[in-house]
Amino acid sequence: MLTTGLLERTAPLYDRVRSVIPPIEWPVFAEDIDAILALKRERNAVILAHNYMTPEIFHCVADIVGDSLALAREAMKVDADVIVLAGVHFMAETAKLLNPNKTVLIPDSRAGCSLAESITAADVRLMRERYPGVPVVTYVNSSAAVKAESDICCTSGNARKVVESLGVDTVIMLPDEYLAQNIAKQTQVKILSWAGHCEVHERFTAAEVRALRRDYPGVVILAHPECPPEVVAEADYAGSTADMSAFVGREKPAKVVLLTECSMADNVSVGHPDVSFVRPCNLCPHMKRITLPNIRHALETMTEEVTIDPALADRARLAVERMVAVR
Ligand code: 13P
Ligand code: SF4
Repeated sequence: MLTTGLLERTAPLYDRVRSVIPPIEWPVFAEDIDAILALKRERNAVILAHNYMTPEIFHCVADIVGDSLALAREAMKVDADVIVLAGVHFMAETAKLLNPNKTVLIPDSRAGCSLAESITAADVRLMRERYPGVPVVTYVNSSAAVKAESDICCTSGNARKVVESLGVDTVIMLPDEYLAQNIAKQTQVKILSWAGHCEVHERFTAAEVRALRRDYPGVVILAHPECPPEVVAEADYAGSTADMSAFVGREKPAKVVLLTECSMADNVSVGHPDVSFVRPCNLCPHMKRITLPNIRHALETMTEEVTIDPALADRARLAVERMVAVR
């Protein structure tokens, strides 16, 4: 029930997000936020939240926020009994791989990813047969079964470093074709790719970038490397979600557009009131499955627990650990 005490307790949290959440919406969130904060203490739980979570999750209940690489790195350091992964399923699997003895919960296990869906373990084995001896670098946006067939993982934040860390002239990079093509432009290493795409980023077009420049003179355009190469080529900068956020903090552009998922601009804008955000964006339906009510439900019922097939967990973990070791 919404009491005056509850509204008073949550008022400092509302102050963080008042620029992106209208006052009329706050009472809808306040009760779940208050309950989640109490449940975290009760369960000795932490919430790891991806940059695409909505602001009331990202700024009001999360303990650790970041891109896929930061969430994997931070998952290794967690000192709690329970991890709630506010993000998509492959992120929860990665946290579980790195914390086999902790309880890892995902608020909605249907939160998938078109990239993870684009390839199976059998496909990776076929690629190895076709290109014998060529190492397989797999984007973390993949299932644990696919990771288990891989030599090393990468994220959009470290893909080039990972590819070059192997000391070979050719690698197979799965499953994101556009990330592979964008990285291929930055390195001498030959990259063989797969035809997976992010359903959110593949929708941005070069014509859209040109229209943004025409309609918003002076706008600085940042793109995620899951965007098609022609989009990245027309942008001013490409980087992971954390890289884009850092760019805004460092360069403080007067006007910026982030060619990525919609919640990114909301979350980043909160810390940069002087930056004007132009907001054409595409929603990720998988990320948007995660809500305050289902985070609360996860902590109340201790569901849905993420498990990994023991037959592949060790091999999948090795691929993630090798990635985290690349600096
Ligand atoms: P980042 O690793 O850049 O956060 O990207 C994850 C993702 O799913 C992008 O669509
Ligand atoms: Fe997957 Fe794209 Fe959604 Fe990221 S934005 S989780 S890559 S579908």
